[in-house]
Amino acid sequence: MFSKETYIHRREKLRKSISSGLILLLGNDESPMNYADNGYHFRQDSTFLYFFGLKLPFLAAILDCDSGEETVFGNDLTVEDFVWMGPQPTINVQSVRVGINKTGDLASLVVLLEEAQNMGRKIHFLPPYRAENKIKLFEWLGIPPVEAKTRASLELILSVVNQRNYKSAEEILEIRKACDISVDMHTLAMRMAKPGVSEAKIAAAVYELALAEGGQISFPIIATINGQTLHNHYHGNVLKNGDMFLLDAGAETAMGYAGDLSSTVPVNGKFTARQNDIYTICLDSHNKAISMLKPGIPFKDVYFESARVIVNGLKNLGLMKGNVEDALANGAHALFFPCGLGHMMGLDVHDMEDLGEVYVGYDGEAKSTQFGLKSLRLGRKLEPGFVFTIEPGIYFIPELIDQWKAKKHNADFINFVKVEEYKTFGGLRNEEDFLVTQTGCELLGKPKPKSIEDVEAEWAKW
Ligand code: GLY
Ligand code: MN
Repeated sequence: MFSKETYIHRREKLRKSISSGLILLLGNDESPMNYADNGYHFRQDSTFLYFFGLKLPFLAAILDCDSGEETVFGNDLTVEDFVWMGPQPTINVQSVRVGINKTGDLASLVVLLEEAQNMGRKIHFLPPYRAENKIKLFEWLGIPPVEAKTRASLELILSVVNQRNYKSAEEILEIRKACDISVDMHTLAMRMAKPGVSEAKIAAAVYELALAEGGQISFPIIATINGQTLHNHYHGNVLKNGDMFLLDAGAETAMGYAGDLSSTVPVNGKFTARQNDIYTICLDSHNKAISMLKPGIPFKDVYFESARVIVNGLKNLGLMKGNVEDALANGAHALFFPCGLGHMMGLDVHDMEDLGEVYVGYDGEAKSTQFGLKSLRLGRKLEPGFVFTIEPGIYFIPELIDQWKAKKHNADFINFVKVEEYKTFGGLRNEEDFLVTQTGCELLGKPKPKSIEDVEAEWAKW
């Protein structure tokens, strides 16, 4: 937990940014896996964590923008609960630690909300992403679950985004910590990625490291020899000679801050000539993007520059052809690079995706609907304090290749005959995390191996 003053200042800023009414912030509940008492790992809502630092389930809070009053609501555990869970400080004791003296039970929150509604006061809430919180909004405010997202307060969304997008020095320290642990997870995986080892074994070892550091993983681990599937969570394969192994994994610190890295390593310790070619293009694209990071540059420009490096590289290999600018404008690169270049990161690995990428990553500007570009989660001009990932990849996705080939989609720019030769190549990427500073950017966490030489040397350590 940060100091009490951090949370007091964050809430004061939020209250003062909203014209009038009540801000209702909902914490997350325990979520059952297969029966009520067998729950998934509890994760507090990140906005609730940001403003209150409290990791207890079943909490809600009201910030009164007119009177300045701040109240945390929740039902204290009983001695019977302590029998199973051990003694816990009361909600009031925990709230005082973050600068809130007034607490109440959930029944009193319902009464307060009813009174506020009767008085015609505006109640600001964020778009809920959990069913339990949609039900609460229905029961407490009469908002049908299907309308909960559209009836969320845009004023509140924008205020929260405008605070959370700019990371403070103490947050950056936490994110650096998450990135350092994430680097250890990746070097461990690079050394383990040997023929005969299973994806599951590496995933387990990576997970263990995150847990052993006192935190969690920041998203489900991707540990795969089929890197062409972007979010591949299947861990049932055994690594063999000739494969590339892709790890996309990050740590979450005990405070809830994320790291997010990707690495690709040849399973027999040496990239083949073809793997070397594609890896080098991808790394050049990655490094080009990093070289452009500074305040004022639109991230969409960085994305196109990184895509330009990929198109030029693939043209040199005979996989693409034609005019590079036209290829980019038509989205031809998206056959090989169908995802974005990066995303904001903080308390969420995709920071505040629940509040809307258009607000977080585009400053309200509409996103493109073109295949490839539509997956770019960040497009806005960079500002000091922004933290995000850089993660270009090159993927040979057989189903997508077949579809484009059959439709002759972007056939002016793609040499489908040559692409056939690479159809079983798989996919690869590197990913690192950056902070925009006043003058440029800073890598967060210690450097991870990413050059061909460094990756092969890391593999060879065991
Ligand atoms: N690291 C997973 C993702 O960015 O989607
Ligand atoms: Mn990522």
